Amino acid sequence: MLDVTALPLAELRARTSEKWREYPDDVLPMFVAETDFPLAPTITAALRRAVDAGDTGYIASKTPLAQSYADFALRRFSWKADPTSMRSTADVSMGIVEILRRVVAPGERVIVTPPVYPPFFDLVTEAGGIVERVPLRDTGTGWELDLDGIRRALTGGARAILLCNPHNPTGTAHSAPSLSALADLAAQYGASVVSDEIHAPLSQPGTAFTPFLAVSDAARTVGYAVVSASKAFNLAGLKCALMVTASDATAAVVRGLPVEVEWRTGQFGLLASVAAFAEESDAWLDGLLRTLDRNRRLLGDLLDAHLPDARYRMPDAGYLAWIDLSPLGWGDNPARRILREAKVALHFGPAFGEEGRGHVRLNFGTSPEIITEAVERIAPLARA
Ligand SMILES: Cc1ncc(COP(=O)(O)O)c(C=O)c1O
Repeated sequence: MLDVTALPLAELRARTSEKWREYPDDVLPMFVAETDFPLAPTITAALRRAVDAGDTGYIASKTPLAQSYADFALRRFSWKADPTSMRSTADVSMGIVEILRRVVAPGERVIVTPPVYPPFFDLVTEAGGIVERVPLRDTGTGWELDLDGIRRALTGGARAILLCNPHNPTGTAHSAPSLSALADLAAQYGASVVSDEIHAPLSQPGTAFTPFLAVSDAARTVGYAVVSASKAFNLAGLKCALMVTASDATAAVVRGLPVEVEWRTGQFGLLASVAAFAEESDAWLDGLLRTLDRNRRLLGDLLDAHLPDARYRMPDAGYLAWIDLSPLGWGDNPARRILREAKVALHFGPAFGEEGRGHVRLNFGTSPEIITEAVERIAPLARA
């Protein structure tokens, strides 16, 4: 069994990425979605080969990337994705914008489901659309799509839904019935669904992640998935994502994108992603999932012990925890006080939409020591 263990703090502080450069060294950074693990050895080897060979040019017109993702999707999600209906681009955000630009006319409305990954609001605007918010429903034990609200928005003229599956920040893997109902609604109203599945490789065993395009014929007709190895394998800086389709009409939309959209894919990102999606990386990914499973449980135990009024539900996927601190009375944006007084950097809840008032998002893709220290630094604020 492969043990995937986060690097020690001293080594992490030598990193120069956003997570490690935004705040001074007395702050524990748990905001941006980067992880603190070493790279999978398969990826290190692929990148080392490329550096040694000076293989740093443009991506080739024929690459193994789409086939490697199709193989990965079949092994990991039992989803038969068609490699001939995919194209790469620099990152998931760019894939979302390029697709939205083609399926929505300027000024048309796009449904987003807050609390949600903050850049979604900007990506819709960048694509020329107008954001229509249909918040997730809190069921008391989890979150789900508000299908009645989505129907109302579609009746009112919304033309697309930007889905996050699994959902950031709640970690919800949307259920197959809700995705199927969403696809039916979109088909009924002639709308498109763009499904951001960047966190899918991090779905915990035992929680049923369903790829949107696997859910039904209706989903394949209306849907686009945008996927990447970048969250699971911490490759965000290398720039590689895939736009995936599963019908002639949607494949034609993606095929119609300018060739430059594909050329923006990073060569290192492509080489690293092919290595990540290869079967040889499965043991590492399984090891990572075990580590993250322990971390999400540890966080729950620590909150129970030190901040019993905090409300936290374990995510189905990923390494992001959505924590409601409103019972503590720390105002709309508790991450500000936590940064100032506890020196722990969390993501601001209200950035995810007004539903995020009183909330924080904590990145537990790190060591048990850092998670423990973070909660122990925050806890005294509740007693002050
Ligand atoms: C749901 C979601 N989509 C997209 C991104 C950004 O991906 P990329 O860097 O590939 O644009 C993130 C990053 O955390 C994310 O959580």
